[in-house]
Parts: sequence; C-alpha cells; structure tokens
Amino acid sequence: MRFKAFCFGLFCILFALYIYTPIPDNIEERWKVMTMDAGARICVFVALFLENIGIMRFEEFISMLYTLDYTQPLSDEHLTVTDITFIDIPVRLYLPKRKSETLRRAVIYFHGGAFCFGSFKLTAYDLLNRWTSNRLDAVVVAVDYRLAPQHHFPAQLEDGMAAVKFFLQDKILRKYGVDPNRICISGDSSGATLTAAISQEVQNDPEIKRKIKAQALLYPALQAIDSYVPSHRENEHGILLTRDTCIKLVSLYFTKDEVLPQAMKRNQYMPLESKHLFKFVNWSILLPEKYRKDHVYTEPILGRTSYSLPGLMDNRASPLLAKDSQLQDLPSTYILTCQYDILRDDGLMYVTRLQNVGVQVFHDHIENGIHGALSFISPPFYLHVGFKIRDKYISWLDKNL
Ligand SMILES: *[C@@H]1O[C@H](CO)[C@@H](O)[C@H](O)[C@H]1NC(C)=O
Repeated sequence: MRFKAFCFGLFCILFALYIYTPIPDNIEERWKVMTMDAGARICVFVALFLENIGIMRFEEFISMLYTLDYTQPLSDEHLTVTDITFIDIPVRLYLPKRKSETLRRAVIYFHGGAFCFGSFKLTAYDLLNRWTSNRLDAVVVAVDYRLAPQHHFPAQLEDGMAAVKFFLQDKILRKYGVDPNRICISGDSSGATLTAAISQEVQNDPEIKRKIKAQALLYPALQAIDSYVPSHRENEHGILLTRDTCIKLVSLYFTKDEVLPQAMKRNQYMPLESKHLFKFVNWSILLPEKYRKDHVYTEPILGRTSYSLPGLMDNRASPLLAKDSQLQDLPSTYILTCQYDILRDDGLMYVTRLQNVGVQVFHDHIENGIHGALSFISPPFYLHVGFKIRDKYISWLDKNL
C-alpha cells in the first residue's frame, strides 16, 4: 500500500515537472500532446532509473510496456486475419474476404520501434494494416523481425529480407491471389529503414526475379553516421523522442558497448575510413534551404574511437550511404517527413538523392507533425495528426500501386 502511494506520489511530481515542457505553437491538440509527451518522459525517467539501480535494462522496461498493447489476430466480416510464419519469420496476414475477379495489390509492412521493440501486434499497427487492406482491397503482410539488443544489425534486416523474398515467389503470390506487378513495401521509423534497405537489395539483386512497384517511407531513419544534422539540433529535446533516447536506442542496434552512445552524443564516433561516405549525408548540400536555416555545417570528427563496427558504414543500416548507381533503379517512392522529428532530415536528404538520380518521388511534409504520430490512431491515445498521416499515405498508395 505504502509502495503504491509512493509510486503515485512520484508519478504526480514527475507529471507536474514534465507537463509544462514547451511545445511549438502550431502543434494541434496541445494538451493531449503535452500530456502524452509528459507520459513518455516519465517512462524514460523510470526506465533510466531501473537501469541505473540494476533492476532491468532501459529497453526491457519500455519493451514491457509495449507488450501490454499486443493484440490477437481477429478476423471480421471483411478480412481474414491470421498470424503465420514465412519460413520462420512471424507475419500477420490480412486477406480480404470478398471474391475478386482480378489479382489483388499487396503491401508488406514493417513496424517501427527503434529496432528494439514493437511488433505488428501493437493495436495501432493492427488498425493501420486492417485499414490498408480494407481501403485498397489489398493483401497486407505485416512482418516481425528479431529485435535489439539480443540481436544486432543485420539480424533485423535479414529477417525482413527473408520474409520479402519468400512472399515474392510466384507460388506464394498465386496462393494469395496477388498481382506480381503491384507490390509495395512500407514502414515507419526504423521499419522505414528496413523498407528502404530491402527495396535497394530487391531492386539490385539480379537473382530476385520479381521486383516491387512502390516503397513508402514514413518518417524514416536513413543514416547513422552523422548525429548532429539540423533536425537533431532543433529536436534535441523533441516531443516523444529526444536526441539522448534516440542515440541510446540506435546504438543498441549495433552494440551493447556504452562507448558508442557516448561518442555519438559528441558526433565523434565514425572511423577514419568512413570519410568518403559523408558526401552522401552532407546536409549543407542535400537539404533544401528552408530546412538548413542558419545552421552551420561542421564535419564530424573521425578516428576518435577504437572499436570496429562495420555496420556503421553499411548502406543496409544507413540507406542514404548507397551510391547513385544503387539508387537509380528504385521504384516509385513515397516519403513522409514531420517538422518536429529528430529524423526529419534523413527523409529530406533521401528525397533529394532520389530526385537527383531520376527516381519518381512523392514527398509529403507535415508542418505540425511529430515523430511516431501513426502510433496514435487508436483510442484513447489518438491524435488528429496521426489520422492525417495515415490518410495521406493510403491515398498515395491507392493512386500509385
Ligand atoms: C559538404 O559541403 C560543403 C559545402 O556546402 C563542403 O564545403 C564540404 O567539403 C562538404 N563535406 C563533405 C564531407 O562532403
């Protein structure tokens, strides 16, 4: 009893501390956003506290909270929903029940969660994928993948790639009545990193016969080599995702070694031999002026660390590091960026790079958008901006797939 009272008291104090964290003027539903942001900050505080006193790791606590929201595969009058595996990769399959005269479109979806947590089972993803399947009369395959820090890069990517390759087989497409020429891969946040990397691999691998028609990247993370681009500076204490949390989680994708996040905070973590890669993320050239503002470009300091993490230089972890020749065959691409998002500039730079090599790109920028907004399309935590993002994405898909 006393413990519960203590916890409640602590919660109230933290809430009172965090609720007045200033947010930008044009954010809609201000009180809701401020409340949710305070909630997120409390979770981070508790997770850090538990980690510091040695009870559990930071990401274990957050992961536990996510698990509370997992859903079962529920079919309804329109859709048959089942949890199955592709080889050994768990997927949730949404098949429209209505008879179709023609083959259907298909969407393969990768959930976000910083490579450390989440699943297609989360309510918001389940709703999004149902919605996609219903709206487009499409087959939707939502893919889970092994998570960090138990599994580091490239496990997540290998799982995603294996699921996509499995689905792209003629006999599987036939089984589900899918049109091989109308397949899209989509994802949000770290799921969009996987989407971008897998699209590059599929389109450039001569052994994969079936190619994809479209890719959709929703507030994607596309590079892990420069941790001080303008959106990192502007959103250092950003809504729902701060720079410190972002660095902590991204570094777990590569290693549990605490040296990496420390060096990342100073932007002094890349090896000397990565010098040639920085032209691919040179925001002073790749960002439109509107977003560069008066930020001053400084090259990251290289060669200050002793570890060797080849993943940091790999374009499968940072799709922005692909050469132009690896980008030019990419399919029609949808990129959505949010103004108040630490990852904003990754998406913006990819728009420029793809346009430079002639890939068809459609870009939506949400002026009052925040990172992770798509996770707020289920009550009681819904936000208008979440529905706006969903609707923009679905309407692009409907026209372009
Ligand atoms: C980045 O671009 C600036 C010009 O805006 C240039 O001076 C600098 O050398 C470039 N750095 C890299 C690593 O490409």
